[in-house]
Amino acid sequence: MHDTDDIGSNHSGNPHLWDMIEARIERRTFVGGTLAVAAGSFLGGSALAATQQRAKPGKVPPRRLGFRPIEPSSEDAIRLPEGYTHEILAPWGTPLLAGAPEFLEDASNSAADQALQVGFNHDGTHYFPLPKFGNSRGLLVMNHEYTDANQIYSAAQGSAITNDAAGREKVAKALAAHGVSVIAIAKGANGKWNVVKGDPYNRRITGTTPMAFSGPVKTSHPMLVSSITPSPIGTLNNCAMGYTPWGTYLACEENWNGYFGTDDVAWTATALETRYGVSRTGFLYNWHKASERFDLAKNRNELNHFGWVVEIDPFDPKSRPVKRTALGRIKHEGATCTESKGRIVVYSGDDENGDYLYKFVGDKPWRQVRAKGLSPLDHGTLYVAKFNADGSGTWLPLMHGVGPLTPANGWADQADVLIRTRMAADTVGATRLHRPEWVAVHPYTGDVFVTLTNGSVNNGAAVNSGRPINPFGHIVRFREAKNDDAAFEWDIFLLAGDPAYDPRVPVDQPIFGSPDGIWVDGSGIVWIQTDISNSVQNRANLSIRVGNTDIPYGYENIGNNAMLAADPATGEVKRFMTGPRGCEITGVTMTPDQRTMFVNIQHPGESTTYWNALNGAPSTANPSTVSSWPSGGRPRPATVVIRKLDGGRIGT
Ligand code: FEO
Ligand code: CA
Ligand code: CA
Ligand code: CA
Repeated sequence: MHDTDDIGSNHSGNPHLWDMIEARIERRTFVGGTLAVAAGSFLGGSALAATQQRAKPGKVPPRRLGFRPIEPSSEDAIRLPEGYTHEILAPWGTPLLAGAPEFLEDASNSAADQALQVGFNHDGTHYFPLPKFGNSRGLLVMNHEYTDANQIYSAAQGSAITNDAAGREKVAKALAAHGVSVIAIAKGANGKWNVVKGDPYNRRITGTTPMAFSGPVKTSHPMLVSSITPSPIGTLNNCAMGYTPWGTYLACEENWNGYFGTDDVAWTATALETRYGVSRTGFLYNWHKASERFDLAKNRNELNHFGWVVEIDPFDPKSRPVKRTALGRIKHEGATCTESKGRIVVYSGDDENGDYLYKFVGDKPWRQVRAKGLSPLDHGTLYVAKFNADGSGTWLPLMHGVGPLTPANGWADQADVLIRTRMAADTVGATRLHRPEWVAVHPYTGDVFVTLTNGSVNNGAAVNSGRPINPFGHIVRFREAKNDDAAFEWDIFLLAGDPAYDPRVPVDQPIFGSPDGIWVDGSGIVWIQTDISNSVQNRANLSIRVGNTDIPYGYENIGNNAMLAADPATGEVKRFMTGPRGCEITGVTMTPDQRTMFVNIQHPGESTTYWNALNGAPSTANPSTVSSWPSGGRPRPATVVIRKLDGGRIGT
């Protein structure tokens, strides 16, 4: 098992995309070589021809990757191609708001200190340029996905949560380290970027910040009413993100179920709670021991305050973040925005083994909606993807009264459909996927890429040919129909993995596994970031039992997590960056001139089976057994700022 996301809760028996992919791969003639899998893809012709046809006139065409690729690495360091340099920006604990204290290396900063400092476990991020000086001054907005009790607490505090004042302080510190940071940054005369401490735009949004709800689900809904939090507060497990064409940031709530638990053995989960992976133990964080807010037996409806997309206006530091309920309640990995006929389109993966891919399409052109003082994210249709084996696909509407979602079948109204989004999607017959993570849209072709990170537990899906399990993941590409919101075509863009374990992975493709982050920059380069679980990272001699057979696989050749660049127009894929030990690489954005790239290093030094065996497991007493990145001591999640030594555009 890779990690908690592998424990699927989807027992719908709906068809699984992996079975269709297996069939498609078997039909292909393999000529070897990078992107052989993708060649001759869409039904309408080759991907390359389609790319050229659809390129927007006057735009910069895709160009070849101009750097020499690097090798895999298991060093405790950042590695980049020749000609590139990097610096560390805004590590966890960086003083941000006015009066913020310095970061203390022994992790003895209090919860109150943490609320004024940059949060923990940097994840999805976006750079918003400031007017006039956008390439040298901007707002770097980023998510802080979760906290690691071995790293955020001092040796004196220890990692356990107890039912006393010390336990409450620790939960408060964890809550203050979650959420989102809005960080004003500026490039100095020496070319280096710095955090502008005390800048009026700087902001922390945390697990306790007041939140508004908008769209069909109101806070007065009987399933949301809570005496402990009568006004909803906080956002948690903000993984990937989105950015709207009107200049706001979308933070997503992914594995929120893990924060809740109870010591009340009489508590049992409802069918809805089971479908969202809620259990008495949660992810063993034990916050409920110190905080009734997270105790399922005392504050059950708090659960329904989470699983939403949260819109944040980084240019208005006093604005209240808004949970946009029309986008559905799932474990939102991200919320990738694009436009269709002037309407907002938002893609979102539900990252759990066997769960689905969603799309929201606004009713009317977003400029018209905003001109009336309304939000384009409150009015539209939510769809879920159904993939067909022949390469076609259908977006199935999750609309009350349509198809099986009727009062006769127990669906009260649209708010009910949205609170139970996963169950509605089960009912309409969506296609199960291997953990859909980020989604990216190509700015010229409109092609959509979705990473399916891995699927080591197949959830009962039929097992067929030589790759019945999917420990390395793959990237699917699809293309929307021109005049039908409900139709698409799909194919495989890249099959991840190591040819030593799967001969269908092209031998000249750089080996990588568990793709997670994906983003297409303004040059048409597809940036792919990996999140190999720390239970398998760097390890050999792994296997997954299928029936009575152990299928061997390994991550020993792949090294630490990495970032790759792919050019869909030429078929090139190159490894661009490797990260320190125990980390995941996630979150990528650039200045408008593409000459500065920001990439996040999340959870360096986290407990990692391979390194624990050599050096011992990390603890509050010794947090540095796996990694001491970035500065030789306590590991700290941080942003890496990447520039080309010659000042050129990144990747070219
Ligand atoms: Fe938080 Fe699915 O990665
Ligand atoms: Ca992720
Ligand atoms: Ca992941
Ligand atoms: Ca991770």
